[in-house]
Amino acid sequence: MAVRDILKMGDPRLLQVAQPVAQFDTPELHSLIADLEDTMLAADGAGLAAPQIGVDLAVVIFGFDSNERYPDAPPVPRTVLVNPHIEALGPEIEEDWEGCLSVPGLRGVVPRWTRIRYRGFDQFGGPIDRVAEGFHARVVQHECDHLIGTLYPMRVRDFTRFGYTEVLFPELAGQGDD
Ligand code: NI
Repeated sequence: MAVRDILKMGDPRLLQVAQPVAQFDTPELHSLIADLEDTMLAADGAGLAAPQIGVDLAVVIFGFDSNERYPDAPPVPRTVLVNPHIEALGPEIEEDWEGCLSVPGLRGVVPRWTRIRYRGFDQFGGPIDRVAEGFHARVVQHECDHLIGTLYPMRVRDFTRFGYTEVLFPELAGQGDD
């Protein structure tokens, strides 16, 4: 379909709570998902949320077999997740590095639930109900945060571990914008 412009931090559209999708399996929803996939692929992202391309709907996509921007990350199943809901499974929290296509050039350490259950629907209205942990759980939490107007820098606690990718991870230089 089309590679869309990705909104950057500072754009007020990234700070909204996204509207739930009311109708599944529509041409509009399929078109949105095709645009998200094309845009994520072009940016070599691990995930992308509809608000990042200026669409005020609770839709995220994520997943990859391998990712140049996160070379140490294990595979995450390619997923379309609509109207998601996340619950923490246990109190455990872990910290790890994150970047965001809406915050190009930067990385920060973000605390996230280690283990979660996430539920929602695919683009056809089929239910999704999974347990995830580690990087998979982190990606889901990061993407779903976009649907409540939250960007990862808002969750950084230790700003000594927040900075420019080219300085923190020179080996990743040239692997896209962030
Ligand atoms: Ni992001």
